[in-house]
Amino acid sequence: MDVTVQPVTTSISGSITVPGDKSVSHRALLLGAIAEGTTTIHNFLASADCLCTAHCLTALGVSCSGLEGSAPATVQGRGLYGLKEPQDILYAGNSGTTARLLLGLLAGLPFTATLSGDASLRRRPMGRVTKPLAAMGAQFLGRRKNTMLPLTVRGGNLQGGVFRLPVASAQLKSALLLAGLYAQGETSIEEPAPSRDHTERMLRHFGVSLHQHGTRTTIPVKGGRRLTAQTVLVPGDISAAAFFLVAAAIIPGSCLTVQGVGLNPSRSGILDVLTAMGVQLEITNRYEESGEPRADISIESRPLKGTLIAGSLIPRLIDELPVLAVAACYAQGETVIKNAMELRIKESDRITALAQELSTLGADIHELPDGLVVRGRPLRGGVVNSHGDHRLAMALAVAALGAKGPVTITSAECVDISFPGFFSLLPGKITLGECR
Ligand code: S3P
Repeated sequence: MDVTVQPVTTSISGSITVPGDKSVSHRALLLGAIAEGTTTIHNFLASADCLCTAHCLTALGVSCSGLEGSAPATVQGRGLYGLKEPQDILYAGNSGTTARLLLGLLAGLPFTATLSGDASLRRRPMGRVTKPLAAMGAQFLGRRKNTMLPLTVRGGNLQGGVFRLPVASAQLKSALLLAGLYAQGETSIEEPAPSRDHTERMLRHFGVSLHQHGTRTTIPVKGGRRLTAQTVLVPGDISAAAFFLVAAAIIPGSCLTVQGVGLNPSRSGILDVLTAMGVQLEITNRYEESGEPRADISIESRPLKGTLIAGSLIPRLIDELPVLAVAACYAQGETVIKNAMELRIKESDRITALAQELSTLGADIHELPDGLVVRGRPLRGGVVNSHGDHRLAMALAVAALGAKGPVTITSAECVDISFPGFFSLLPGKITLGECR
């Protein structure tokens, strides 16, 4: 489906809410499935990615209901060892989180399962997960020396250990934490920089005690812990809020509040960057629920200035880099994004795709091996390609709001992967095109 987004002619103002957090929704399903009792999930994100996790769990014998209605979703937990061997291939669709976290869970279970996904997911690296899980004792068989989907896993009889992660990846860390629940002895995980800690927070919420070693990001898990079903209130997704925060930042005179957004410090790097770029932010109504901090974020536009986005900030805003590249197009001066090699192995190669598509709109943007250099200058209208990547489609839609002419985004239906209804919330006049 093509979508044409018209530039806005007035400022953006008001108050909105965004859908539930994708990372937290996946984890609520997965931990609910292996807990004892019925888990209730409020504000569950019924997007394509999270529904893939639910369908995989259903194939493993878990009953999930109310996923798409207005009532809370429920998961009938089967306990740590209650999942059953699936009768067919588990399909993770476009979802890296589904694939990697499930591989961790399946590694602990004494049966055989095969996992696959769509063309994009089948290109993404799984060796970062299968290698340490194999070292724990799980067996894998798959393409490219067991590093790419489809992958068959034969789990069970895991041994814990100490794992030093080569990348700050929450998916990798979470896969090992889940496997650690089934391992003999302790499983300790050391990250090169802190990545999102939703799994740790939710494991604690479900009654598993984790230990942090001083300032080091070492998270040991003793094997054989039991999870007790819980109520989970999913916060608004800061990665979804990001599109509207940047929209308000780049449209002069705008003033917007996004309510009830997850403000986990391991996810809130975008607020640091927007502040460094010069916008006015106010955080109010802070509270914590289900182990996750949340608040209302108010933003007022200001003339933006370029900035440096690098180092340990990167894992705290990895999914927001496409829309921050758009903010950089509307800033005075140069923005440099470095140390973001991981962007090349997301749903698309986001470095190349952003450089290509934003150049089509007239941006001054250049690729680095591990990032981008953007110099602000006005954007024009044009036809751009989402590359089937939801975050790229939404970032390009935000770019369109401040452009000098309409922007048509091809294959824009991919926004449903993380944000169904995105286009109906977007300010300005939207025209939906033909299905392709
Ligand atoms: C996620 C972790 C991040 C992020 C992804 C969701 C998660 O991936 O980009 O969208 O829910 O754990 P990596 O673990 O590969 O950094």
